[in-house]
Amino acid sequence: MKSPPKTFHVKSFGCQMNVYDGERMAELMAADGMVAAEASDADLVVLNTCHIREKATEKVYSDIGRLRKDAGKQGRAPMIAVAGCVAQAEGAEIVARAKVDVVVGPQAYHHLPALVAKAAAGEAALDTDMPPASKFGALPKRRRVGPSAFLTVAEGCDKFCTYCVVPYTRGAEISRPFDAIVEEARALVEAGAREITLLGQNVNAWDDDGRGLHDLIRALDRLPGLARLRYTTSHPNDMRQGLIDAHAQVPSLMPFLHLPVQSGSTRILKAMNRSHGRDNYLRLLDRVRAARPDIALSGDFIVGFPGETDADFADTLSLVDQVGYAQAFSFKYSPRPGTPAAAMADEVPAAVMDERLQRLQAALGRDQAAFNRASVGRCCEVLIERQGKLPGQMLGKSPWLQSVHVMGDHAIGDMVEVELAAAGPVSLTGVARIAKAA
Ligand code: SAH
Ligand code: SF4
Ligand code: F3S
Repeated sequence: MKSPPKTFHVKSFGCQMNVYDGERMAELMAADGMVAAEASDADLVVLNTCHIREKATEKVYSDIGRLRKDAGKQGRAPMIAVAGCVAQAEGAEIVARAKVDVVVGPQAYHHLPALVAKAAAGEAALDTDMPPASKFGALPKRRRVGPSAFLTVAEGCDKFCTYCVVPYTRGAEISRPFDAIVEEARALVEAGAREITLLGQNVNAWDDDGRGLHDLIRALDRLPGLARLRYTTSHPNDMRQGLIDAHAQVPSLMPFLHLPVQSGSTRILKAMNRSHGRDNYLRLLDRVRAARPDIALSGDFIVGFPGETDADFADTLSLVDQVGYAQAFSFKYSPRPGTPAAAMADEVPAAVMDERLQRLQAALGRDQAAFNRASVGRCCEVLIERQGKLPGQMLGKSPWLQSVHVMGDHAIGDMVEVELAAAGPVSLTGVARIAKAA
């Protein structure tokens, strides 16, 4: 038995949806009377975990060990809850291996306060159910958020790419209802948001009775006080013309598109079950650029998928050259238990994977720096999100999702008109064009 926790700390790993879930769990516990604290003081630590690659999963176990050791030195033994995708995938395994108090999956976290109470009473507290009714209705209203907020509109995935755990950890794809999303967006604006990023594993597949993501975006564009809209992550096969047109027509929709391709080789894309080839992906990007010529493109890549040859990898490099991404993420393939790819032959040797990742990242870094250099001289708005490292320096985002440093007396949440004056590899310097009224 442990006494019921009075303070809590949530630590989120992985994707933006986990960040969103972490905020919602914190709101739930605050509504239950608990107070937020640093990890080193909290009676309850929630690790909101990611299962996407092996390293992410192992990190959870080492984090639990470190947490226990540090607390033990202070004579404390905080309650530990494991939430997120590792909780879903490993379930009771985590209790057996790491003796944690609570395990709760991504579709069950609205039960977290009840599970914590159970654990405090010395009972087993594990819930990895995926109930047909969604958790969203059981969550408290949004109260305080930063200028840039996340809003989950769709969750889960039915695509079953052969390397990926998400369909197993997040469950089948569901879209939240139109009205519930608009209501949450309104609450987010009241709570301080000026920019909202709509989230879903395949966000562009969002659908409510024939209404698509572009209809939702057009409705949110009219919300007073909301200046910017973004959405992520999109799947190439769900990119409809209505959404592409929205990029040309909806003022608050930012010129940025994260559209993962994973590989430039049609043969590997087939083995990944991606259901798009190299050529139709490139043609799709042509249509997006025709609608919004200044759009910043982003992607995800996996190197070293089983059977990837030098020629396949050369196709990936040539696709990168052809697209000219403004930014992108790239990963070494990591076999995940239970996925079809984990049983595939022709593993790529680690040294080859390392070398390919280095070459790919060099190419992506070169293109990102080039995109940033090409932005110098542009005037744009920067949404200030936090303080920079230097005194008087603030940090925000351009419409193209570049980090921009701005000097001056600007507050978090301000939208500052700047001229982009200088570019580094991963950020820019902006000079405010109109001095803020005293
Ligand atoms: N829904 C998105 C992304 C989901 S996961 C999409 O369909 O693209 C985020 C990224 O992690 C993926 O785009 C992929 O690049 C990477 N990823 C997923 N599984 C992986 C694995 N087993 N090994 C390495 N990278 C992986
Ligand atoms: Fe994973 Fe593919 Fe679904 Fe993306 S589309 S979440 S990579 S299975
Ligand atoms: Fe990780 Fe789950 Fe997101 S596996 S990437 S936290 S959907």
